[in-house]
Amino acid sequence: MLNCQKDQFSIPDNIHYLNGAYFSPLMKKLELIGHQAVSRKARPFDIGIDHFYEPIKQLKNSFAQLINSDASRIAIIPSVSYGIATVTKNIEFGDQKKIVMCEEQFPSNYYSWKKLADEKGLTIEMVKASSNFEQRSIDWNKNILDAIDKETKVVTLGNVHWADGTYFDLKAIRQKATEVNALLIIDGTQSIGALPFDMQEIQADAVICAAYKWLLGPYGSALAYYGTYFDNGEPIEENWINRLESENFKNLVNYQAAYQAGAERFGVGQKSNFINTPIVHAAIEQLLEWGVDNVQQYCKQLSQNTVYQLKEMGCLIDNEAQRSGHLFGIRTNNRFDMDKLLTAFQKHHVYVSRRGNAIRVAPNVYNDERNFEVLLECFKLARKRIGTRICTDNLNTDTFPV
Ligand SMILES: Cc1ncc(COP(=O)(O)O)c(C=O)c1O
Repeated sequence: MLNCQKDQFSIPDNIHYLNGAYFSPLMKKLELIGHQAVSRKARPFDIGIDHFYEPIKQLKNSFAQLINSDASRIAIIPSVSYGIATVTKNIEFGDQKKIVMCEEQFPSNYYSWKKLADEKGLTIEMVKASSNFEQRSIDWNKNILDAIDKETKVVTLGNVHWADGTYFDLKAIRQKATEVNALLIIDGTQSIGALPFDMQEIQADAVICAAYKWLLGPYGSALAYYGTYFDNGEPIEENWINRLESENFKNLVNYQAAYQAGAERFGVGQKSNFINTPIVHAAIEQLLEWGVDNVQQYCKQLSQNTVYQLKEMGCLIDNEAQRSGHLFGIRTNNRFDMDKLLTAFQKHHVYVSRRGNAIRVAPNVYNDERNFEVLLECFKLARKRIGTRICTDNLNTDTFPV
């Protein structure tokens, strides 16, 4: 079991930062690596050709290890929208004209599909969540599986829903997608790094993951896996470094028709990013050392007591098996005064997010028990009173507005 890693971060004791799904904090040692990386630009005479290639090679190796895949299939990109644009540019639809995704998917994994659907006359089926709270995740997964039919060319979603951590059974979804010859495209931004993700098991056709959340890296970097379907694909931009033998700087204007091997062609221009690359690399190495499974177990165990008490107070929170431990939604089920709750969060420096009709709580290894105690105190302060009695009834599972 992993111990609390708070001392490796710069979060003050009076700050209860439960918002890793928004932005992760940078570890102290990564801050130092970042400072050194910035300083390198002051000494351009120390930057050699190898610096363009070696650090990104190491980064790709680390990410490949994290998701248990082959490093030659990894590309360095700046954002999820960039990675998804590459995917949408390279799919032949033929007779299968349907794209399946979940309701309220994150926009970076929606807009490119919407544009493509409008251009090519495709349909997007956004599978709705169930209104039966107790069965929400089970029904939602079943509805997704039901939506995947012989018309379906693409299924695209995350391992968990970004707003409330609802768990999607990617193994079952992969199986159904394979049966109908559909591609599986994963946005791993809200899970990879905190929830185990194994490419040997999931066999996704593409995986896109921003670095600034659960990979504990900086903003402006993301990683992508592209499978064999994309082998001869077209990148969304043409840059010099993706071309074969770009290492030969004196030969760059002997223009080269061929790309570098594997997924290299899909990398963004200036992918060597001398500042971000060493930080993301060291962050992933740290995750590998901790073990992603241990990160998930830590988050689950840390939040267990508070989740139990919030449910006792009438909040709706998915059962552990149906959601992630590092990201989950609390629906206040009309039992709390929302203004009071938000004021309490502000006053006691509790950082969470409001997403959809849920309060999203997203802990990580830098959080401790005190953070959850203070979160619980805020809810206690905001409990609605019915007459003179504080509302503690059992759950009403019919409605769950915030
Ligand atoms: C699920 C998910 N995907 C992607 C992103 C970020 O997308 P982009 O890298 O295009 O800014 C976020 C940010 O919150 C997210 O939650």
